[in-house]
Amino acid sequence: MVIQELQLEYLDDFYLLFEDLMHEGYANFPVELREYFLARDYSKKNIMLWLERNFRKIFLAMVDGEIVGFIVGDNTYGGVGFVSWLGIKPNMRKRGIGTQLLKAYEDYIITLGAHLLELYASDDVKPFYEKYGMHEIGRRNNGYFGQKNVIMDKPLGQWNSDNIRIVEHNS
Ligand SMILES: CC(C)(COP(=O)(O)OP(=O)(O)OC[C@H]1O[C@@H](n2cnc3c(N)ncnc32)[C@H](O)[C@@H]1OP(=O)(O)O)[C@@H](O)C(=O)NCCC(=O)NCCS
Repeated sequence: MVIQELQLEYLDDFYLLFEDLMHEGYANFPVELREYFLARDYSKKNIMLWLERNFRKIFLAMVDGEIVGFIVGDNTYGGVGFVSWLGIKPNMRKRGIGTQLLKAYEDYIITLGAHLLELYASDDVKPFYEKYGMHEIGRRNNGYFGQKNVIMDKPLGQWNSDNIRIVEHNS
């Protein structure tokens, strides 16, 4: 198994798995919300724009050239890296792949000076994230899109004030 960053050449294959998981893996969401995500916020076109503009970071888990899992996160804001999606093909679960994808994203945001990893989970996957060292810090019963958000984080270090150092430009 290798972990690599999503490049445009793998976008179609990535999106096929993303769509599959939207129908199966994220089935806790109401069907109309999942359809909305695929048609709008997480359309293939939007994901292509993210790649072109480096708006999000997506890592893939590959086995024999096939994508078996992915993680989608941002490029940190204020030292916090936020994971929006993590998904593993059903027949490849419980082999440590989800853990390795989280680690790849964590290593990436540490290079950006992050001090915190954050995500919103559901109760059924909370134990998986706890095994990774994350903790519930609170929950909303009526959060984004009216959904329950189990808010979890993992401290990675201290806030680095160099992150807000003003860079002088020669202009
Ligand atoms: C949740 C998910 C990402 C976990 O990925 P995975 O590759 O199966 O997880 P790992 O193999 O790295 O599991 C690490 C540990 O967590 C445990 N674990 C995995 N999923 C679990 C779950 N749903 N509940 C409880 N424990 C779980 C594993 O048994 C393993 O424990 P061990 O170290 O004692 O053996 C995967 O099941 C998935 O894609 N689910 C559908 C989509 C989803 O729910 N994504 C998360 C949205 S917030």
